[in-house]
Amino acid sequence: GEVQTHNFIIQSTRVTRLCKTINVITVNGQLPGPTLEVNNGDTLIINAVNRARYNVTLHWHGIRQIRTGWADGPEFVTQCPIRPGGSYTYRFTIENQEGTLWWHAHSSWLRATVYGALIIHPKPGASYPFTKPKREAPIILGEWWNRNPIDVVNQATRTGAAPNISDAYTINGQPGDLYNCSSKDTVVIPVASGETNLFRIINAALNAELFFKIANHKFTVVAVDASYTKPYTTDVLMIAPGQTTDLLVTADQAPGRYYIAARAYASNINVAFDNTTTTAILQYQGLPCPAPGTSAPQPIMPSLPFYNDTNTATRFTTSLRSLNSREFPARVPQSVDENLFFTVGLGLFNCRTGQMCGGPNNTRFAASVNNISFALPQSLSILQAHTYGVNGVFTRDFPRVPPVQFDYTAQNVSRALWQPVRGTRVKQMKFGSVVQVVLQGTNIVNGENHPMHLHGHDFYVLAEGFGNFNPSRDTSNFNLVDPPLRNTMGVPINGWAVIRFVADNPGVWLMHCHFDVHINWGLAMVFLVENGISELESLEPPPIDLPPC
Ligand code: C2O
Repeated sequence: GEVQTHNFIIQSTRVTRLCKTINVITVNGQLPGPTLEVNNGDTLIINAVNRARYNVTLHWHGIRQIRTGWADGPEFVTQCPIRPGGSYTYRFTIENQEGTLWWHAHSSWLRATVYGALIIHPKPGASYPFTKPKREAPIILGEWWNRNPIDVVNQATRTGAAPNISDAYTINGQPGDLYNCSSKDTVVIPVASGETNLFRIINAALNAELFFKIANHKFTVVAVDASYTKPYTTDVLMIAPGQTTDLLVTADQAPGRYYIAARAYASNINVAFDNTTTTAILQYQGLPCPAPGTSAPQPIMPSLPFYNDTNTATRFTTSLRSLNSREFPARVPQSVDENLFFTVGLGLFNCRTGQMCGGPNNTRFAASVNNISFALPQSLSILQAHTYGVNGVFTRDFPRVPPVQFDYTAQNVSRALWQPVRGTRVKQMKFGSVVQVVLQGTNIVNGENHPMHLHGHDFYVLAEGFGNFNPSRDTSNFNLVDPPLRNTMGVPINGWAVIRFVADNPGVWLMHCHFDVHINWGLAMVFLVENGISELESLEPPPIDLPPC
């Protein structure tokens, strides 16, 4: 493979959206940030230079980082943050991955404005499992606040309340026509009549799963999370933060202008959410110019599913299958070494004196996995503590719990579950273990669909359902042939999902809900994968410019 070097200057930038100009943090002054485009097998060297007044790290979402866990990026998990004025070089090789991924900041809420596409083409000479369209475009969905997002989350942390909802969703950084004074900047995506396009959809929103449609056009899903799927044709997409979906879209309608639109899938409509709609325009080339003094006709608007249309969301996610062709086989491990059960959901902390108590009934919002609300270390990253043998940074006693049965109608769950315990506890595993996790969503405070993301590994989604996971009933329905391979999956509201992966990447790997508000409340845990026997099964030594703590 080739080596590509990029300079990412993290800096304060004046940005105008919705008629307001504010300072936000960007990479190289761009929003979205630069698109990285590489081939499978290439090496990326990113010099990150922090000229902002915040601590920053960068994460390459979905990149496996085989043996290069030092480049993964979550702050205080694999590295200490790059301090203002500091820099760090992320260096990693793309190994047997192709498709659409992305990169984003992994400290506080900086990823609201520090994100971009990471597109991996097949090795030179290798082909796609579909006819590669001449034209392709990334379509990155985002979320915008009329305020510095860091101030939004800091206010929530201070008060213990839920943070303010966003003021807009965006497509490639722009809210689009339906928002105040955004029309002239609406993103236009040109297509040619009769041609097929590859659109790479990325959900970079902080706290919203999204429905996505293109007026009058169907599309065919060919990959999710940089893993090929059996072609699946539909007219609506549900995409959770962290997920990517590659679509083939043929311009087979009357030449014209059609809205591309996205708005929230709010699995629990009682939780405050941004109910606005973002649009871009799919525009056929060669349309006649509007007559002098007239404007172009209004694009046609698709009708999006209602906000809490869980049926549509579920139909989409459960229709996906791995391609599982001779060239791209699914490799589902057929037996399991570590059988784990995790509860994932929100809880509440009692308010201590001197604290503000913005949560319900004089509490503060919390979230947990197996009742442990993940606390980031403050002094050293977990990976450094593990590598240098420093005690006191984390413990290895992540709890093993037996399957919990929730009464999803009565909410009569024990107090011990809604009041989690803070901790930095990791689950340690032998190199090469096959891990299965039943993720059981809780509804102790608010039942919600939680998009869970695992660093350093892709996992097969064997099954999902509503209510309690029932091993004797549900195990027999596991798809062990062609389940979708993902790095992020939504655990259904008041339901469960089962994932399976091989822990074949030595290092320290965060698993968390990709709603940033939930990470802030502690909906995260860490897997520590031990080195294997040979050097090729071991983590590389830390880079010399690893930021000091
Ligand atoms: Cu997309 Cu932990 O991140």
